[in-house]
Amino acid sequence: MIYNRNVNDVLSLFNNSEGFVTVCAPMVRYSKIQFRSLVRQYNCDLCFSPMIMADSFCKSEKARQNEFSTNRNDSPVVVQFAANNAADFVEAANLVAPYCDGVDLNCGCPQRWAKQLGVGCALLEDPQNIYNIVRECKNQVTKPFTISVKMRLLNDLKETVTICKQLEMCGVSFITLHGRTKLQQKGEANINAIKTVRESINCPLISNGGVLDLDGCKEMHEKTGCKGVMVGNGILTNPTLFSGSNTTTIACVQSWIDICYNSTLTLEKYNILRQSKQIQNPVIPERPLNLTFQCFHHHLVFMLEKILPRFKRRIFNGLQTFSTVLHFLKENLGLTCKLFDEETFMNSCVLDINYYNFLNNCTEINYYNHQNEGKFFSEKCTFSDVYDEEENILNIFSETTK
Ligand SMILES: Cc1cc2nc3c(=O)[nH]c(=O)nc-3n(C[C@H](O)[C@H](O)[C@H](O)COP(=O)(O)O)c2cc1C
Repeated sequence: MIYNRNVNDVLSLFNNSEGFVTVCAPMVRYSKIQFRSLVRQYNCDLCFSPMIMADSFCKSEKARQNEFSTNRNDSPVVVQFAANNAADFVEAANLVAPYCDGVDLNCGCPQRWAKQLGVGCALLEDPQNIYNIVRECKNQVTKPFTISVKMRLLNDLKETVTICKQLEMCGVSFITLHGRTKLQQKGEANINAIKTVRESINCPLISNGGVLDLDGCKEMHEKTGCKGVMVGNGILTNPTLFSGSNTTTIACVQSWIDICYNSTLTLEKYNILRQSKQIQNPVIPERPLNLTFQCFHHHLVFMLEKILPRFKRRIFNGLQTFSTVLHFLKENLGLTCKLFDEETFMNSCVLDINYYNFLNNCTEINYYNHQNEGKFFSEKCTFSDVYDEEENILNIFSETTK
């Protein structure tokens, strides 16, 4: 597919927005191209890619192909990198620049492995390094696009403010602030602290943490005055969140399977299917292009959390193949994948990216591609959380299957 993408200026979003900019959080394994396409259908203004290790991205073609995909309509999109030095970050930014609208430096990941590598929130212990990375990127990436930082609150609010002010002096385009410290995994975000930071800087601030619905976004915006509100967990469970619906709709589940199905088709295959009218019973092959089973299934598990009754969820969550998932959706919710019309297909199909033109000295490294279920998913799928409204859910479920 010849590369030709729509381009949107991220900063103009903040300038033009009457209310606040709605932002889908960077999420490893999850905020990939298909999910970004889905949330854009539901009022999401700005999407982040999952965090990508900048050094692997620079050194491994496999990493580049696995970690970032895009399509014509995937804009505005910010690609987030984890890096512990300016050289890796700048090289990764230069590689991806033609295919995105901005790059972001992860200064929030609290996991032990990140600390060991000196990336994520470990960077906050050496702010000079962060300033250097932002400055170098500003100086060396020629394309006009945004350079942003996503960080957490430090224990000391004054220090948080100092870092944000300094980042502004280095030319950062905007900052995202997760209103929890690295030791606070859950619980409410510190709204007052975010507000204090917002009042101390002039560049746009996106606030993040603990928002689960559109009212929560509005409250966050009103209380902090931030120009953007970012949501992670809430949008996984309910991708329609920014459009005001409080639960995932069946139409959204339908859109998800359509997006995933169409993203696995080459243009050639698409044309054959359209011409032969073989669109009655679409299937996703077990090893499709551009899509992993995990990505497809995990998102459905999250979305169906409040749609399926518990006994059905147990069955659904344990499914292991595309065919069994599609069969389940057809039998239980009456859903089957649909082929897009030609224009939608062309705008949504995954584009080939040729990074070779931009590579100077590529030395292939062993790149670790994590294929296990992941801790986040395993924890989500423990059934310790019994829904108290089991009966209501059953009713919704039987309505949707009529
Ligand atoms: C599954 C998952 C993956 C995440 N991956 C990333 C990531 O790649 N980069 C990042 O900066 N934050 C990541 N986060 C943190 C979120 O971006 C966000 O800051 C955090 O979840 C708080 O927002 P929430 O309360 O709306 O979920 C991740 C969170 C989750 C739940």
